[in-house]
Amino acid sequence: MYCVRNITEDLYWVGANDHRLHLFENIHPIPRGVSYNAYLLLDKQTVLFDTVDWSACRQLLENIEHLLGKRPLDYLVINHMEPDHGASIEEILLRWPKVKIISTEKAFMLMRQFGFHVDSHELIEVKEGDTYSFGSHTVTFVAAPMVHWPEAMVTFDTTSGALFSADAFGSFGALDGKLFADEVNFDRDWLNDARRYLTNIVGKYGPHVQLLLKKAGGILDQIKYICPLHGPVWRKDLMYFIDKYDKWSRYEPEEKGVMIAYASMYGNTEAAAQALAAKLCEKGMTNVWVYDVSNTHVSELVSESFRLSHIVLASVTYNLGIYPVMHDYLMHLKALNLQNRTFAIIENGSWACKSGDLMQKFINEEMKNMTVLNERLSLASSLNEGKAGELEVLANAVMDSMKEE
Ligand code: FEO
Repeated sequence: MYCVRNITEDLYWVGANDHRLHLFENIHPIPRGVSYNAYLLLDKQTVLFDTVDWSACRQLLENIEHLLGKRPLDYLVINHMEPDHGASIEEILLRWPKVKIISTEKAFMLMRQFGFHVDSHELIEVKEGDTYSFGSHTVTFVAAPMVHWPEAMVTFDTTSGALFSADAFGSFGALDGKLFADEVNFDRDWLNDARRYLTNIVGKYGPHVQLLLKKAGGILDQIKYICPLHGPVWRKDLMYFIDKYDKWSRYEPEEKGVMIAYASMYGNTEAAAQALAAKLCEKGMTNVWVYDVSNTHVSELVSESFRLSHIVLASVTYNLGIYPVMHDYLMHLKALNLQNRTFAIIENGSWACKSGDLMQKFINEEMKNMTVLNERLSLASSLNEGKAGELEVLANAVMDSMKEE
């Protein structure tokens, strides 16, 4: 049975929701599922914008067949070739052998690499600024390299104002009927998953997202709909989400606040993290979030690191190094290019306390534009009353650094 929704009178969402996939890209948990969005335009010519993951192919086909009726599918526009969107291309080509494919040179190369038999079809290679008319609708193609793969482009329908934005402006989470962002409480129910999606999937490519935002900035007044490949479609309050993307891709914190990420084996380092959290709240900073790196998925840790201005790392020493899970979290921050944060350090070690120096070295040498506060809380096995003064000094240093910003 088909499951489609209208966006405009001749543009339809024909994608699918997936609640069965547990790990997106086989890494990131998606307890709320994910949507693979594809769009069908019924103009004088019929046009499908992107396909879906292989697991959702049948739903896509039922949706398209329902809307097309006896009409052929004339064009397939591929904005992004990653298999969560491109995997069903081959099936579309088999069902509609006369369909013409519009995409970038690199995308055609990837289609061949993935084994799709595209060369028996008419291929229309487009580049930045090219336009194409499907009848009453004219579209412009805009290169979006590394948002999130090198072949990516976005397509802007200058007639309707619909921007087919590929991975940009996407989010984890299945739509479950609610296609538009204004049909949900986005800030309450979606923002965390949108941030987790962007920061973990495209976080590394902030400068490329910035380039795309700059291009979009030139036509902001013409954009009426943002149609991403995952998550809700935007038709109201577009600037709310564009501003979020701008912040995330500039690596600017969204909020003044403190994330305390701790690695604790027997609860002693955790106790220090909790004591610092209480101190900060007592001093008036209540936007404080405490996470055990051992039982919080690293994609959540990354997302929270992008959200907040201050990060306290509290780690035991393990095999004379940083606790492995804490080290893994830091490696993710480095890989995703996070910048412009203030760090504070709590270290613990029962006989050779090394984690503080090693974490400081990692931040100073492996990451960009970070500040590490000089005040450090150093524990020998556990926090005791003798350390109350150092705890106070650390809390004051965090508070003072917030005033400076
Ligand atoms: Fe949702 Fe880069 O693919």
